[in-house]
Amino acid sequence: MQNIVLIGFMGVGKGTIARELSKESKMFAVDTDDLIESLVNKKIKAIFEDEGEGYFRELEKRCALWLQKSVKGTIISTGGGFYRQKNIKKIGKVIYLESSFEAILNRLKSHPNAKKKLAKRPLLQDIKKAKELYKTRVKEYEKIADVIINVEDKSIKIITKELLSQCRGFGDAR
Ligand code: S3P
Repeated sequence: MQNIVLIGFMGVGKGTIARELSKESKMFAVDTDDLIESLVNKKIKAIFEDEGEGYFRELEKRCALWLQKSVKGTIISTGGGFYRQKNIKKIGKVIYLESSFEAILNRLKSHPNAKKKLAKRPLLQDIKKAKELYKTRVKEYEKIADVIINVEDKSIKIITKELLSQCRGFGDAR
């Protein structure tokens, strides 16, 4: 059974969508940031502060190799930079959740836990820099994706429905 790998910019809703898709498809969902946090028993923010981004990227690489080798039939939500893993296409079908930068910011700001949501993301602290990162990343996400789903202004139910029909196209998800 193929995995479904959700990629996209920070705050686009990969984790939320993965959980809803999990509920609807009865496939388990895991998140690469959660896996990394448990591997070193440390929050992503603290990893960036104590060891730096380079070390975090090494952990992402380890995570990617483990997923390829050991995980099947699972929905995998990823950190915004995980798409750069060389083996990503070997992990599963790559689905890019697309949204404008402005809509992502609005989504984060309107969340009841907005402060926490922003604070836990080291690369979202400087909005100008984050926008530059977004511009570079968008082209790369598009290039690597097997499927692109625009999520802007869509309800979680609609997005999940679209994803489910795409997954059926892969021939192995329920
Ligand atoms: C990152 C995105 C974060 C997290 C880390 C780096 C990135 O995950 O992996 O802070 O490089 O875009 P989210 O996309 O869940 O915010």
